[in-house]
Amino acid sequence: MKLKYLLLSLLIVGCKAKESKDTKIEKPQEITSLKEALKSDFYIGTALNVNQIHERNAATDSVIKTHFNAIVAENCMKSGLIHPEKNTYFWEDADAFVNFGMQNNMFITGHTLAWHSQTPPWLFVDDQGNDVTREELIARMTDHITTLMTRYKGKVKGWDVVNEALNEDGTMRESKFYTIIGPDWVEIMFGIAQKVDPDTELYYNDYNLSNPEKRQGTVNLVKSIQEKGIKVTGIGMQSHVSMDNPDLKVYEESIEAFSKLGTVMITEFDLSVLKWPNRQMTADISERAAYMEKMDPFKTGLPDSMSMAQQERFQKVFNIWKKHSKSITRVTTWGVNDGNSWKNDFPIPGRTDYPLLFDRNNKAKPIVTDLIKQANTTNTTAHE
Ligand code: GLA
Repeated sequence: MKLKYLLLSLLIVGCKAKESKDTKIEKPQEITSLKEALKSDFYIGTALNVNQIHERNAATDSVIKTHFNAIVAENCMKSGLIHPEKNTYFWEDADAFVNFGMQNNMFITGHTLAWHSQTPPWLFVDDQGNDVTREELIARMTDHITTLMTRYKGKVKGWDVVNEALNEDGTMRESKFYTIIGPDWVEIMFGIAQKVDPDTELYYNDYNLSNPEKRQGTVNLVKSIQEKGIKVTGIGMQSHVSMDNPDLKVYEESIEAFSKLGTVMITEFDLSVLKWPNRQMTADISERAAYMEKMDPFKTGLPDSMSMAQQERFQKVFNIWKKHSKSITRVTTWGVNDGNSWKNDFPIPGRTDYPLLFDRNNKAKPIVTDLIKQANTTNTTAHE
């Protein structure tokens, strides 16, 4: 009889011990944000406009702080805005942008040091309006790059040093930088940046990089600079894509090609649901109105079928990026929500596009909730 009690009590103690051991295994914390969901893959970033930098809309601000852990300035660090006159810099917005990133523990990218577009009127010309010499332009860019990089040293972790230096066929774009300085202008810019801060990441950034000719041109350009011992940390693929362009297979091939040279970043992602105009706008007013009607079909909302098609394409690109997360360090969307995307005004002004991950009311699109759900599923399975 005694033995029976002994065995019974041993059994009960055993069960209790097991119970308490089981309850000690912590349940994984539920993931509720995009940045947590993608934490083991890459930074997820967004471009900020000046209203967002200055936190003027509480709902948008909350989306930024909740879901993103990387930022880039949409405009305020471009030379035309930050360096409007030869001896005048305008720091207010860029300083606020960098402070915003520091306060919220975000990876901050500087955009962009040398780009042929959105430049200040003085940059390429002398007082008579003639092109400056090669030496003078290099001196001006040395001042520009040194001043920006020094001011934000240790805070801005990576710079788009050169933006869009190539044509679609992979040859060098005949920009003012190219015509005044010469074909070595890109390596000169990287050399200046490396000298200012050898510890910061330095990127080459461009669009349409899935195009095989432009891909090859980029590989050749970056390789030739690196072979001279000048640092190019990685390549930024802007990735302004649409529903049928690019073919995701060739897009992925570019990620693979670039990953052999350094890191890869998706730097300006948006997925337009609108058609690209295939002809010049006509001057005839009624014809123009009819054309606009056709080119701007979702003014009052996106039909379910289109939302679903977009969701599918979103999921496909995220699958590709996650598959290459060893090389991809950051995915940045060009804007926070559909309402503030440049795509509403480009290439045709005044349209209603839906290219981002959050809608006009800052509501997360299904891709966001799905990515979070997928991360929670992986998390739970990993703990079983
Ligand atoms: C290019 C530039 C960006 C921005 C977009 C349009 O991709 O790199 O800075 O100007 O065009 O907003």
